[in-house]
Amino acid sequence: MKIAVLTGAGVSAESGLSTYRDNNGLWDNYDPMEVASIEGWYKNRKLVLDFYNSMRAKLRDVRPNDAHIAISRLEERAETTVITQNVDDLHERAGSTRVIHLHGEATKVRPENGVYDDTFSEREVIDVGYDAVSLGDKAPNGSQLRPHIVFFGEAVPKLGIAADVVSEADIVLIVGTSLQVYPAASLYSYARPDAGIYLIDPADMRLPDRRIVHIRAVATEGMKQFVKHIWSDNQQ
Ligand code: APR
Repeated sequence: MKIAVLTGAGVSAESGLSTYRDNNGLWDNYDPMEVASIEGWYKNRKLVLDFYNSMRAKLRDVRPNDAHIAISRLEERAETTVITQNVDDLHERAGSTRVIHLHGEATKVRPENGVYDDTFSEREVIDVGYDAVSLGDKAPNGSQLRPHIVFFGEAVPKLGIAADVVSEADIVLIVGTSLQVYPAASLYSYARPDAGIYLIDPADMRLPDRRIVHIRAVATEGMKQFVKHIWSDNQQ
């Protein structure tokens, strides 16, 4: 059995990390065009570096929650790939071994003028863990280190492989995303016609596709219901 798990900020909410758009989310307190866009980067690199420095530092103090752990344990019974919009490292820390970060990773940086710009090769990407990066911190090629994040206004290089994973899945599970940011939000639509599609979210969401089974719960609770449902289905 193959499971594709599409996650957003909601899966990390119970670990204490802010979501972006619901109750006092990050975008209620910061302008994404200033701190998370390519124009914002060129306008004020320090503001962007500080934003991701504070996000990175928070990761040192939080832990994966039971939803991350339940998602990693799906690997015990199914070929599971996590496709996350999140830039935190909580899926990896929970034990997931196949994680695709559509929007980049907060713990990584790369030269602002490097090979990635043309080829998306990650060979110049540096893992800085939870440490801060400042203006003047240069890459080996001499250019300023920038967050290894897909800024608004930039391409999403891993979209193709993510779509392939979803198109081969028997089950597509969506956890904790408002499905408002494209192209990530359209990924579920690559599901095969015979695939099961489940969405875990406490909000009363307008479901974009009537095939989607909405488990209206927070991620930790919803994962218990999801696991019970799919493994009991597969015992019959
Ligand atoms: N469990 C599950 N879902 C939750 C929980 C929870 N405990 N708390 C909140 N949610 C849900 C909200 O109802 C909402 O649908 O998580 C979703 C969070 O939505 P957003 O804040 O929009 O986050 P996300 O969908 O991940 O944003 C996508 O937007 O700004 C960009 O790059 C950024 O990756 C991000 C993208």
